[in-house]
Amino acid sequence: MVWSWLSIDGVKMPLLRLIPCLACLALSLFWDILLPAAGHAHCQLTQQAALCTGFQLSSVPADLPKNINELQLNNNTISVLRNTCLSHYPHLQVLSCANCHLDTIESYTFHNAPNIENLNLAKNNIHTGYQQTSQALWHLSRLKVLDLSANGLTENMVAFLLRNMSSLERLSLSGNIMLRLDQAIFGALHRLEELNLERNGIYEIEDKAFNSLQSLQRLSLAFNNLPCLENFQLTQLLVLNASHNNLEWFISDQDMKEPFHLQTLDLRDNRLLFFPLLPTHSHVQTLLLSDNQIGFYQHLANISSLNWTTHVQFSNLTGNMSNVTVELWDETFHGDISSVELLDLTGNHVVHLPLGFLGKMRKLSRLKLGRNCLESLDLKELSASLYELDLSSNRLTTLSANQTTLNALAYLTHLNLSLNDLKTLPPKMFVSLSSLTTVDLSYNKVDICSSVELDSCIDNCDCIIWTDVRSLKQLYLRGCSLRQVPPSAFNGTPITHLELSDNPGIFLSQESLASLSGTLQQLGLGNTKTQAFDFTLFIHLRYLDLSRNSLSHLPGSIGVPHLRWLDLRDNSLTSIPFQQAETLSNSLQTLFLGGNPFNCCDMDWYRMLEEVNTVNIMDWPVTCLHVVHGTHRVDHLSGNLCRISDEEPSWWYVVLLLPVCLSFVGIIVIFTLTFRSSRVPKLINKRCLRHTSY
Ligand SMILES: *[C@@H]1O[C@H](CO)[C@@H](O)[C@H](O)[C@H]1NC(C)=O
Ligand SMILES: *[C@@H]1O[C@H](CO)[C@@H](O)[C@H](O)[C@H]1NC(C)=O
Ligand SMILES: *[C@@H]1O[C@H](CO)[C@@H](O)[C@H](O)[C@H]1NC(C)=O
Ligand SMILES: *[C@@H]1O[C@H](CO)[C@@H](O)[C@H](O)[C@H]1NC(C)=O
Ligand SMILES: *[C@@H]1O[C@H](CO)[C@@H](O)[C@H](O)[C@H]1NC(C)=O
Repeated sequence: MVWSWLSIDGVKMPLLRLIPCLACLALSLFWDILLPAAGHAHCQLTQQAALCTGFQLSSVPADLPKNINELQLNNNTISVLRNTCLSHYPHLQVLSCANCHLDTIESYTFHNAPNIENLNLAKNNIHTGYQQTSQALWHLSRLKVLDLSANGLTENMVAFLLRNMSSLERLSLSGNIMLRLDQAIFGALHRLEELNLERNGIYEIEDKAFNSLQSLQRLSLAFNNLPCLENFQLTQLLVLNASHNNLEWFISDQDMKEPFHLQTLDLRDNRLLFFPLLPTHSHVQTLLLSDNQIGFYQHLANISSLNWTTHVQFSNLTGNMSNVTVELWDETFHGDISSVELLDLTGNHVVHLPLGFLGKMRKLSRLKLGRNCLESLDLKELSASLYELDLSSNRLTTLSANQTTLNALAYLTHLNLSLNDLKTLPPKMFVSLSSLTTVDLSYNKVDICSSVELDSCIDNCDCIIWTDVRSLKQLYLRGCSLRQVPPSAFNGTPITHLELSDNPGIFLSQESLASLSGTLQQLGLGNTKTQAFDFTLFIHLRYLDLSRNSLSHLPGSIGVPHLRWLDLRDNSLTSIPFQQAETLSNSLQTLFLGGNPFNCCDMDWYRMLEEVNTVNIMDWPVTCLHVVHGTHRVDHLSGNLCRISDEEPSWWYVVLLLPVCLSFVGIIVIFTLTFRSSRVPKLINKRCLRHTSY
């Protein structure tokens, strides 16, 4: 029955699918007959632009309105742009033929469309026909923007293509196969402002390669193989991106008396050992140095027995030597950093910062020093304009700062001290920072002061005072080995977001958080072994994390009116009372339920939550436990899960009765063999040993 049904279905299906296709075919024939030149039937026309992206065109449609000034032909299969293909569109200003399998542009293609200003040829095969294409480009004397990325071009091809492109302002050559840059390549591009050379294999740049680019403002060399950038002289440049190379040095020309205009220097993800040597007069505001190996080493240079070299010498492959002498060990020698506003040194090898280093950056507003090896830090030198300070993942055991220093940091808003070894901090530290809104102290061993301790610690105390920090909104104290939150610990502090997760066994009384009942919106109590806590007063609570707490039933007070996000993962819940689930469903948007031993026979509440459709149940599918079936996925809850056991009882009886039947048969066989043993040898002789050869 099943097989014949299947085979009929198998015949029927293709036929059914064919019908729409036949209809399509008929329709397209109809179109072809009625509209013989319907090439542009696909192209979408808006004002003066024709959008023909992705319609398997093999040539440029010839019947678009003559006055269009923009033609988008991306994602088609046009391998050649023929001489006459644009002759109908003399007003074209924008032409885009990216990802078109384009090999060649014939020499006179642009003769009739000389007004093109923006030409996108990305992701094609121009390397095959670059010579003809180059001649074609000569006609575009107004071209300003050219995208030649991902075309398999070598530096010689690029030099050939760009010979005469003096009008260009923006050029992308990313994703080609250029290896060395020399003076010949960009010689004509006097007006170029933006040059993208990302993702080639560039390993060397000759001294004068960029000399003729007098207007260049933005240069990206990211994702190449450059081992160093020395003698950096491009004074007019505003943004230099040399991230993701193999840079061990960045040294700008120290003899240059002109000021550099550089504002953004991105040297992330390289191999820098030393802080980059910036120009003597610079305006660098954004200095991105994360994921290098930068440290400060003067303390090593003073050990005379080590006999370190004091200068480096660079040579390039053409044999030209250039001596760049650098006082490697002099910590005061890093050029002009006075304009720096953002310094990102995340993920380096900084053990200490040289004296006076931070003091030079009077405009510093964001300092990121996460993932280094800092053991101590004096906040004294920090600029008064500091807004964000990230010291996470270091080895800090103390932070030093006196009252004047703290008062001066009047704009400090975000402070991240997580993942250190901090045990003590200046008393009243947070009270003194008047703009502080966010503090992350997670994974340090710090206690919260009780009101008794508050009076006793004036100079130093091994707990932190959180009362009356008037600006504080977000406080993270994850994994701090907290034993308790003393009563009134947060009096006068308007915390909206409190993270106490991963403090297993923390003692949390109702009075501990009472002062936050009017402000608290997010509360993290994951892995705190909290069992009973009354949430009734926390009427603004929106996010609540109760995961990993061995909860066997939900606290009765959990249905606060605005709760939107609730995490109940990895507890011991077997069910949720229907009434409670109903209350929750009124406001809840996101609910995590995984890792609980829910009872499959008591899932009405779950079905209700699914049906209301406003609650997003995450970590789907949830599982439940069944007496007979074990763990079961609660994915399509059409009926009662308990009924599973009623549906197939015969099967279960068979499984249970099978051993009994087998034993019974066994007994009969043994019985027969014992009482009729005389006949057995004959049978065996006849039937079993007939063909043996012994
Ligand atoms: C540059 O283009 C002009 C036409 O605009 C042409 O006459 C000239 O030969 C070209 N020069 C080079 C070096 O290709
Ligand atoms: C540098 O280039 C990389 C790669 O394209 C990019 O992700 C990064 O944002 C750029 N840096 C800046 C400062 O623009
Ligand atoms: C230090 O280096 C110099 C030159 O490289 C060498 O002549 C001298 O012997 C070295 N001194 C020691 C103590 O190694
Ligand atoms: C570079 O310095 C070395 C050692 O001081 C010297 O021998 C060499 O001649 C210098 N080279 C140039 C090009 O100045
Ligand atoms: C603090 O830094 C840690 C580590 O980099 C990060 O995971 C955490 O999200 C940061 N905290 C805040 C509040 O941004």
